[in-house]
Amino acid sequence: MSPDPRIEALLSQMTVEEKVGQLGVFADMVRPFAPDVNPETNMRNANEILEHVRAGRIGALFNGVGAAEGRATQRVAVEESRLGIPLLFGADVIHGMRTVFPIPLGEAASFEPELAYRTARATALEATAAGIHWTYAPMIDIARDQRWGRVAESAGEDVLLSCIFAAARVRGFQGERLDAPDSLLATPKHFVAYGAVTAGLDYNYVDISEQTLRDVHLPPFAAALNAGAMTIMTAFNDINGVPASANRRLLTDLLRDEWKFTGVVVSDYTSDMELIAHGYAADARDATKLAFLAGLDMSMQSGFYAEHLPDLIESGEIPMAALDTAVRRVLSLKAAAGLFDNPYRSLDPEKEAGTEHLPAHTELSRDAGRRSIVLLKNDGGLLPLRKSGQKIALIGPCAQDRSNLEGCWTLFGDKSRYVDLETGLRDALETADGLSVVPGCGFEHAIDGGIEAAVRAAQAADVVLLAIGEPQYYSGEAQSRVQIVLPEVQQALAEAIAQTGTPVAIILRTGRALALTGAVRDAQAILATWFLGTQTGPAIADVIFGDYNPSARLPISFPHDSGQQPFFYNHPRTGRPELPNTTEFKTRWRECSNNALFPFGHGLSYTSFAYTAPVLSTHRLAWDDTLVISARVTNTGDRTGEEVVQLYIHDRVASRVRPVRELKAFRKILLRPGQTADVMFTLDRHMLAFTGPDGQFSAEPGIFDLWVTPSSSSGRPVEFELLPGSA
Ligand code: BGC
Repeated sequence: MSPDPRIEALLSQMTVEEKVGQLGVFADMVRPFAPDVNPETNMRNANEILEHVRAGRIGALFNGVGAAEGRATQRVAVEESRLGIPLLFGADVIHGMRTVFPIPLGEAASFEPELAYRTARATALEATAAGIHWTYAPMIDIARDQRWGRVAESAGEDVLLSCIFAAARVRGFQGERLDAPDSLLATPKHFVAYGAVTAGLDYNYVDISEQTLRDVHLPPFAAALNAGAMTIMTAFNDINGVPASANRRLLTDLLRDEWKFTGVVVSDYTSDMELIAHGYAADARDATKLAFLAGLDMSMQSGFYAEHLPDLIESGEIPMAALDTAVRRVLSLKAAAGLFDNPYRSLDPEKEAGTEHLPAHTELSRDAGRRSIVLLKNDGGLLPLRKSGQKIALIGPCAQDRSNLEGCWTLFGDKSRYVDLETGLRDALETADGLSVVPGCGFEHAIDGGIEAAVRAAQAADVVLLAIGEPQYYSGEAQSRVQIVLPEVQQALAEAIAQTGTPVAIILRTGRALALTGAVRDAQAILATWFLGTQTGPAIADVIFGDYNPSARLPISFPHDSGQQPFFYNHPRTGRPELPNTTEFKTRWRECSNNALFPFGHGLSYTSFAYTAPVLSTHRLAWDDTLVISARVTNTGDRTGEEVVQLYIHDRVASRVRPVRELKAFRKILLRPGQTADVMFTLDRHMLAFTGPDGQFSAEPGIFDLWVTPSSSSGRPVEFELLPGSA
């Protein structure tokens, strides 16, 4: 990249203190949303922040909101600081701003990257209108252990799905041009393998093979950077003993040298400071030196860079050229965002007021919500329900709840617009007097006489909608669970309702896969409804009454039991696989099957689909050739519906043990009753590649199984052979 003369001119005038200032991002105390978060490291008040901005000692602020105050702060930077370098305003805008969309895990269930693009674009419009330039999203950690609370922020357990959603979200946030007033800079996080924390315990250590790192956890980051992300956030965890925030091999050798990343690496919240708690750095000065020399450009919130970099430069322990490189990256980011041309971009109070409530975004929230709902089970076609002539009992702590609609990591949602489940159902019903509503219990506590009242309502009804699940504070940062089950009181409620014999449809609110048992597992119907955001009630009502035919598929496997974690469909083969009718001395648990209760990719529709065996253009794929696969899918039911057609492969013999199946492509198609489509896929050897024992990423010739199926555990394979290349 040729040097930008404006940036070089600035650099030549900057003092060390001003340079270091550009590398610090601090909580915005001028327009704070939660000033009590980690007050230990917060600057005390707005005046202190403004004084630092005036002195050129702060380059970016985060998690403040509001165009007018943002503009006033920007004016201090631009007009009152010596060099007038504009501030960059960052924030955690994860799945919506004022309008809240489904949690990322839920949205991934749609298997519609275009949907993620649209919600990210809408989020960018609202966030930039509220004075934010830079989001700390998408979170693209692969989540294979459902005990981990941050599964909710991810796209789940699969590599391909995560890559595709990562790229869609980056494009959606950033739009066509980074300097447009509605472009929100994306920050894929957390680099890297944060989802692999041992035992699903947040912040825990990560001991991982190079191959798993490369084949599972790194690809979504490569996809996000290829889609144009210019910043990346490091993870809290260590990787094989070296904390991610001071990991030179990852931040420099891989990111810069191998991947040629030219953007900015920012720490997670005080993750440079945490090098001390890790026992990796002796003190603050040591932590600063280790993090910076490893390749961490910006320090979030600890203040370590501001405090210790000048001295480290002075002593020669850190070369000035290295400092200049980091500052150049930050200034280039600001330039790319158009801030040098217009420091007041995205800081227009009128625009903010006009963006406060956009009906199109409310509609999008509803559409995204219903497209995220997975119909896990529907025995006897219990769902959809009729809008009249049926007595419905809506029971459970989620029935009227308004405090657990948005899901974790929603800092700025407009709560006044949230629509709860009861309201959504009532609005959809033709005669609302057919609906009785009883909470039965709280999320975690019993209500006096609650179960008795719920049982009476169930007895008097034709059908029960049992709205249960996790409260939203079970998900998100630092919210790991030992048992991924429903709280006891809710399980007890479900058991009591089941005793009435009235058919039950479970409406399951959750931020992770749960191990469903007893009356919940055995209910006639189950809908996984995640946390859907602003339009929760209407989105669920659309599915309950069949105005929308459910089309989402699981982005994570639902196990039988918590003890199966980490549990994911694409696990490596073992030497003793379980066989039909032979379980002893096989890979199995004593207490339950090692299949999923509901596998990755699973989801039902109100119609049904039939697949023919896939037809391959050849069964002998030449090394440089492309295989064309075609499968015929027919809607055999009586409703229009969408099907997610999934292509999996399995490499039979390789120099490294390969997963039992891997998703390689998918297509979502819409079919009218009786309609047939030929769904085409292409495959080449690059899609069959993996990191071998020698570290080489390549495919190996040999036989592969291939499935075109509706889920990761169904279908019959056909085989093809990848022929060797000419030497
Ligand atoms: C989280 C990040 C987040 C940051 C800033 C951290 O605690 O791990 O995901 O972006 O805080 O709020």
